[in-house]
Amino acid sequence: MIDASASYTGTRDRVEDYFDRTATRVWERLTSDAPVSRIRRTVRAGRERMRATMLACLPADLAGARVLDAGCGAGQMCAELAARGATVVGADISPALIAIAGARLAPQLRPKVTFVAGDMLSPELGAFDHVVAMDSLIYYSTPDIADALARLAGRTRGSIVFTLAPRTPLLTLMWRVGRLFPRADRSPLMVPQDHRAIARAAAGRVRHVARVSSGFYISDCLEHRA
Ligand SMILES: C[S@@+](CC[C@H](N)C(=O)[O-])C[C@H]1O[C@@H](n2cnc3c(N)ncnc32)[C@H](O)[C@@H]1O
Repeated sequence: MIDASASYTGTRDRVEDYFDRTATRVWERLTSDAPVSRIRRTVRAGRERMRATMLACLPADLAGARVLDAGCGAGQMCAELAARGATVVGADISPALIAIAGARLAPQLRPKVTFVAGDMLSPELGAFDHVVAMDSLIYYSTPDIADALARLAGRTRGSIVFTLAPRTPLLTLMWRVGRLFPRADRSPLMVPQDHRAIARAAAGRVRHVARVSSGFYISDCLEHRA
């Protein structure tokens, strides 16, 4: 068990409920090659650019490196990391998405990847050379993200590459409106972040890498250095 704040566990429970029940099929489709709406195509394209941006922060050859994909979802990043030679742990709070990730992984990469249904911050996952967290911290508050980075940093020799929802006028408006209405499907709200506040909380060890903006997908890539 991890000693996490009530706000962290409350958000995590909401995220689990959403990805493990309400949105499993939508997420499965978005992360596949199946046809999707024009809006979702822009999201898919943005996410592909973001994955490439994050991977560019890591060594090209990951042979011998142990890498955590924190909040791995349907496992797209795990496959890329394993193809570069890493030994990968893909952890996600949604057992349904973990099952999809396991079934999708190419047979030749299976010996390189261990999928775990559970909390991405669990110390039981062990120590890592690098951590990637693509769009999995975006639902948490600033203090919870700072705490998550500190916990992961204590077990990570190299960099932690992660994304945040930026504090743009549109995302901030959506967040403000979203907080006013109780959501029947318990969907988690993305929390727009000022990445400078995260950098301050991490004693200047966080740098802003790039912003990816593609239609309805907008996300900041950041790197926490050891
Ligand atoms: C928007 S999806 C992104 C999935 C994947 N990283 C990707 O980019 O395709 C966010 C994922 O983070 C997972 N997640 C969020 N908080 C988590 C936590 N505390 N522990 C494990 N997984 C978590 C969710 O279950 C969900 O699959």
